[in-house]
Amino acid sequence: MPLTTTGELIARAARLRTAVAAFNIITLEHIEAVVTGAETAGAPVVLQVSQNAVKFRGGRLGPLARAAVTAAEQAHIPVALHLDHVQSDDLLRQAPDAGFSSVMYDAARLPYAENLTATQAAADWAHAQGLWIEAELGQIGGKDGRPPLDAHAPGARTDPAEARDFVARTGVDALAVAIGSAHAMTTRTAALDHALLKRLSAELAVPLVLHGSSGVPDDELAEAVEGGIGKVNVGTALNAALTRALRDHLGRHPEAVDPRAYLATGRTAMTDEVTRIIRVLDRAGVSPS
Ligand code: G3H
Ligand code: ZN
Repeated sequence: MPLTTTGELIARAARLRTAVAAFNIITLEHIEAVVTGAETAGAPVVLQVSQNAVKFRGGRLGPLARAAVTAAEQAHIPVALHLDHVQSDDLLRQAPDAGFSSVMYDAARLPYAENLTATQAAADWAHAQGLWIEAELGQIGGKDGRPPLDAHAPGARTDPAEARDFVARTGVDALAVAIGSAHAMTTRTAALDHALLKRLSAELAVPLVLHGSSGVPDDELAEAVEGGIGKVNVGTALNAALTRALRDHLGRHPEAVDPRAYLATGRTAMTDEVTRIIRVLDRAGVSPS
């Protein structure tokens, strides 16, 4: 199937009153697991590459992006590519040629006025290239190895009035909101602020994005989709599944040296997790007709 765009998948999800799942990929096994897991669930999916993943790959976007494009083109479901948590303008500018239809520009670490100015410039550039752009307002914790559980700190949450101003002045296509989730959680124990989500959803005409979804319990996730989340970002849950499977396999086979055997167990564990999460999201929606 030809590569599709994140914008189209978000629009489709909105029509079905569900959310599109976006999974962070680091290795070829992640790519294969996300595509196979989504095919099993029968749903489109977003493959996303974070700036941190590019850093891990020696600063080169090309090899992982090309693998993702090829996997997307051979998939039996629509797949889009998204560049995630971009802080570097140099990386941002590589997106269109590398096959990405969308980017998340992350200037949320900056004070409001600076986040606004930087995001405005990124959005103007992205739109001139035909890219869909997401930005973040509020502090979704747990980035770059910082402690994950600061989601409830005073001032961390996205303020609805500020969000309205931010979206209107930047022209972004979607907004990542801080409503109680945090990145890199290894337990599903986050408590979302559903009342705040409803206010944000009522205030804003753009789709809202949930980051740090690995730490969100299934019921909370389904409720968040019903409450207006249109894109659900998942990373750590796949890494936890991969690592658990590898640890288990190598523990039982200490003599193993062929990576195909243990990587296969890790890839299957990630595939199952992808299918499971997409099914949780689809619980909230209506069937495609
Ligand atoms: O942008 C990526 C996501 O927010 C992933 O967060 O690794 O906690 O699931 P997670
Ligand atoms: Zn994130």
